[in-house]
Amino acid sequence: MNIKQMKLSRRLFQLLTMCCVTLTFAQTDYKSFQPGEIWEDNNGVHINAHGGGITVVNDTYYWFGEHKGNNNQALVGVHVYSSKDLYNWKDEGVALKMKEDTSSKLQKGSVLERPKVIYNDKTNKYVLWFHHELKGQGYKAALTGVAVSDNITGPYEYIDSFRMHPGVWPKNFSEEEKAHAETYAKKEDLKWGQRSKHGVYFLRDFEGGQMSRDMTLFKDEDGSAYHITASEENGTLIISKLTDDYLSLSNEYVRVFPGGNNEAPAIFKKDGKYYMFSSGLTGWDPNPARSAMADSMLGPWKSLGNPVRGSEEEKETTFRSQSTYVLPVVGKKDAFIFMADRWTPKNPIDGRYIWLPVQFEDGKPILKWYNEWKLDFFDK
Ligand code: GAL
Repeated sequence: MNIKQMKLSRRLFQLLTMCCVTLTFAQTDYKSFQPGEIWEDNNGVHINAHGGGITVVNDTYYWFGEHKGNNNQALVGVHVYSSKDLYNWKDEGVALKMKEDTSSKLQKGSVLERPKVIYNDKTNKYVLWFHHELKGQGYKAALTGVAVSDNITGPYEYIDSFRMHPGVWPKNFSEEEKAHAETYAKKEDLKWGQRSKHGVYFLRDFEGGQMSRDMTLFKDEDGSAYHITASEENGTLIISKLTDDYLSLSNEYVRVFPGGNNEAPAIFKKDGKYYMFSSGLTGWDPNPARSAMADSMLGPWKSLGNPVRGSEEEKETTFRSQSTYVLPVVGKKDAFIFMADRWTPKNPIDGRYIWLPVQFEDGKPILKWYNEWKLDFFDK
């Protein structure tokens, strides 16, 4: 090698090292939330955690969500990111992987939505629940799925997906209501909305188990945890207490807002009261949000109306988004973040995240739009 070649190779080596260092340390430096904008992770890639939820471990937030591609089939699984400041997120990989094995219900190409993780203090395990639809069956299966891990970021071991509460009556379905539902089940001219309201779908699915689609989890301060989901053809919510290990639904459950057509439930607790945001049923298209409150997770729940304050368009479309989770900010009192998805079904991977501060007005949780905001919003 002559001197010229030596200099050239040294220069090449320097350039390569610089590139590697830049790549290794590539990270974002967000200092605020910018709802609806591209939100890059530490690798400069738009965060892929749709329909997500957040679990806090010590001083770190873990954001779990649907890894989307260019259609709605789950080909990858549940993606997880971590953050200490909520603005900047590190890609922690795939927490629950879709399976190559075509005999598994969790095979690639099935639909996996709205994953949520809670920690069980008794078993020291992280438990992940999600909405699961079987491959090639559209949204017909309506199952809830569960997986478990010793580590927050996984890998999560898939347990099973199933219908809920086969052969078990809810706590709030009296003999009178059963008789009423049976009468309605015989009517042939009932409209779709009425079937759910009068318990006709509930009776239909009694033996085989109730449907579960849009779902979330809520872990209470006393360690009890709940599974909240759109059931009965999305007409009625079902709230079920989880067993002590969080791996199954206990028999303690209630029907909430029969025929109310709520989807996308998200729960939080403030001053001993439980609050819920939800949406109506228009698939990927946005619709007006709803809010509700209760003194106990198992109800009764009282409707509080549309929480959005703003223009007609904002009220009609919930800022063009649909709720997925409400995050209590660690170390700040009464600080809750409304997390929602602005779906882009033509190219799901491009879906945007709408995070807004929850405010209170006359004892009701309300939402207003901000193009940009920071956590010190809650200190004012
Ligand atoms: C929405 C639901 C999403 C997804 C979609 C499918 O209403 O909230 O999670 O299931 O329907 O059309």
